[in-house]
Amino acid sequence: MLVNFNFNVPSTIVFGVDTVNQTGQYVRKLNGKRAFVITDPGVAKAGILEKVLRVLREDGIEAGYYDGVIPEPPENIVAEIVDKVKDGGYEVIIGLGGGSSMDTAKVVSVLVTNGGTIRDYLGIDKIPKPGLPKIMIPTTAGTGSEVTQVAIFTLVDEKVKKGVVSSYLLADVAIVDPALTYNLPPEITAATGMDALIHAIESYIARKANKFTEGLSLMAMELIARNIRTAVTDGSNTEARYNMSLGSLLAGIAFGNSSCAAVHALALALGGKFHIPHGVANTLMLPYVMEYNVVSRMEKFVKIVEALGEKVDGLSLRDAAFKAIDAMVNIARDIGVPTRLRDLNVPKEAIPEMAKAAINETRLLSQNPRVLTLKDIENIYNNAW
Ligand SMILES: [Fe+2]
Repeated sequence: MLVNFNFNVPSTIVFGVDTVNQTGQYVRKLNGKRAFVITDPGVAKAGILEKVLRVLREDGIEAGYYDGVIPEPPENIVAEIVDKVKDGGYEVIIGLGGGSSMDTAKVVSVLVTNGGTIRDYLGIDKIPKPGLPKIMIPTTAGTGSEVTQVAIFTLVDEKVKKGVVSSYLLADVAIVDPALTYNLPPEITAATGMDALIHAIESYIARKANKFTEGLSLMAMELIARNIRTAVTDGSNTEARYNMSLGSLLAGIAFGNSSCAAVHALALALGGKFHIPHGVANTLMLPYVMEYNVVSRMEKFVKIVEALGEKVDGLSLRDAAFKAIDAMVNIARDIGVPTRLRDLNVPKEAIPEMAKAAINETRLLSQNPRVLTLKDIENIYNNAW
C-alpha cells in the first residue's frame, strides 16, 4: 500500500533514570520563570510532586501546583485549574502523573490562551491557537499521553468519555524517568502496562499505520511483553521498569502517529458508563476484538505473536496468527488483569447501550482494520461478557 504520512513528536524527548532532575532546565529553555504543576493526590502522596517542586525551585523557577486531579477528569476540575494558572501568571504548564493528570495539563495549556471550555474543542482540530508551553512527565508506564495530541475527558451528564485531538496538545518536552515508576503498586503496573501493550498492538494494525509507526509498535511489544511480568511481580527490578517505560514511550509515539482502534473504542464506551480503569477496560475488550480482527490481518498478527516472544515454527499462517490472542490472554492472566466483563460485575443488559455509545467513536473505529456494525460491536461485548 502507498501510504502518505506525517510524523509528530514533542520537540524534545528526555528519557532515562533521574532525568526528572532536568525539569527546571527545560522550563528555562521554554523561556519560563513560573511553572504550574498539575498532578493527582497519589503522585503527591508518593512524594513525586515534592521532588519536582524542589527540583524546579533549585533551578530558580517559581512553582505553583494543583494536586487534585481525579481519574477520568470531569470538566469542572479543568476550569478551576485554568483560573489558578491565569491568576498566578504562570508561563509553563507541567503535567505530572498518569493519563488523567497529563491530559488535564494539556487541555489547561490551550484553554488559558484560547478561552472557552473543553466542550468547545471536542473532536479533531477544533483548537484555534497554540497553548502555553508544556512539559509532560509520566509517573506510570502506560498512557503514552506525554507524546500524543489527544486528551480524554468524561462528560459527566452524558456519562461518556470524549477526546480532544489537536497538534496544539502536543507537549514541547516529554521527560520520561523510569525511576518515577519504581514504587507503583502491582495492580497499577499491570493495568497501565496492558494499556501500553494494547497501544502497540492497535497502532500496528490501524489503517493509518506506516513504516515509522510499525517499527516502533513492534519494538514496544517486544519490550513490554518481555518485562511486564517482572515489573508487576518484582517492582524493584530497575531493568524491567526501564524497559516498561521505554516500551510505553515507543507505543505512545506509535499510536500518536498511527491510531488506536476498536479495543479503545469499545473500552471508552465501557469506561464511560462503568468506572473501570482505562487499562483494565482495554484488557477486557482485547481478546474479543482481536478475535474479530485477526482474519483481516493474518500476516500482521503473526508479526505480533513473534514480537510477544512466542514460537511459530511449523504452524500454519492461521494457527500462528490466532496464537497472538492466546499470548495476550496469558499475559493478562499472569499479571492478574481480568478478561471478562462479568468479573467486573458489568450487567449483560448494559450491552446494547454501550454498543450505541461505542459506534459513535468514529475517530477510533474508522482506523480498525475490519469494519464494525452495531451488531458486530454487540457481539463482541457479548463474547467479552
Ligand atoms: Fe490507552
